[in-house]
Amino acid sequence: MSTTTTTKKSWRWLGTLAVLALVQLVSYQNCGSDFIVKDGLSVVSSASLGGACEATLAADFQSSYYSFLKTNCATCHTSRGPGNGAFADGNADLAFSAFLATGHAKIDINATNSAHSGQSGPQNSSAIAVAGQQWDNAAASCKNGGGGGGGSSIMTSEKVMQANATAKDITWNLDTELNQPGNTGGATLTISVREAPSANGTPVYFFSNPRLKGGSRSVNVKGLMIRINGQEQVLGSTWSRVDSTAAAGATVTMSTAQVLLEYTQYSVSDTLSVIIDSVSAQ
Ligand code: HEC
Repeated sequence: MSTTTTTKKSWRWLGTLAVLALVQLVSYQNCGSDFIVKDGLSVVSSASLGGACEATLAADFQSSYYSFLKTNCATCHTSRGPGNGAFADGNADLAFSAFLATGHAKIDINATNSAHSGQSGPQNSSAIAVAGQQWDNAAASCKNGGGGGGGSSIMTSEKVMQANATAKDITWNLDTELNQPGNTGGATLTISVREAPSANGTPVYFFSNPRLKGGSRSVNVKGLMIRINGQEQVLGSTWSRVDSTAAAGATVTMSTAQVLLEYTQYSVSDTLSVIIDSVSAQ
């Protein structure tokens, strides 16, 4: 072994130590076996999903995803078909619980990926975008006490990250890519993401440089929480108190702190979305 190699190695080791010290461990899917709802709702067991909330969600499933799934996915995704998950079954109750168990993030991806099946592909993108927003709305109002009422969370749409070692920007239009229509004159929120393995090989997401850009009016945004695959990352709360105002056309950096999340189930199709406390335009 030459000296150069040794130096290189110890430097690398120091580098990984630094990463390890910052990594916040996310223990994922360690809930009980009846943990079924993964979209927008934090942890809801089948037993506690009752009353108005369940009725709202079941009705929303039927008016959003169900007819699409029956039309396009029923050749395989029924209780008898080869597909994993019977969310297109003719029995609406069975289809609904399979839908909850699979989670709409995965369904959105396979519905629009032409490699998945003959009926999947980009032709489904707009139908899926509409259904996804409708579902997110219902899930958010359910989370906030069920059956509508009290202020619902503001959420961006989910975007596939396809993260790698090079930081890339993911941007949302705050008028058209939230679960409720905005009126900011085209303001945008941008977050950089990259992915690199920790010392023990576990994938780690690095989120950085959240930027707010004013549209035709000045805009204020408060409080950002990261969601991966529709699941709120409660440990990634570094940006939960941000409060920034961007003048019309101007861009401000909302925080210089990075959010690091170890994510054992990393896949290139993981999605990023953001829960926002408030958006207001002057
Ligand atoms: C030709 C049969 C076929 C069709 C049509 C089909 N799928 Fe699948 N699907 C499968 C098979 C087989 C699997 C299990 C293997 C895999 O994950 O690819 C699967 C798995 C999935 C999964 C992963 C479930 C999990 O829990 O990991 C999702 C989500 C999915 N399909 C969505 C869809 C959607 C949405 C449609 C309709 C637009 C669709 N599929 C159409 C055969 C099909």
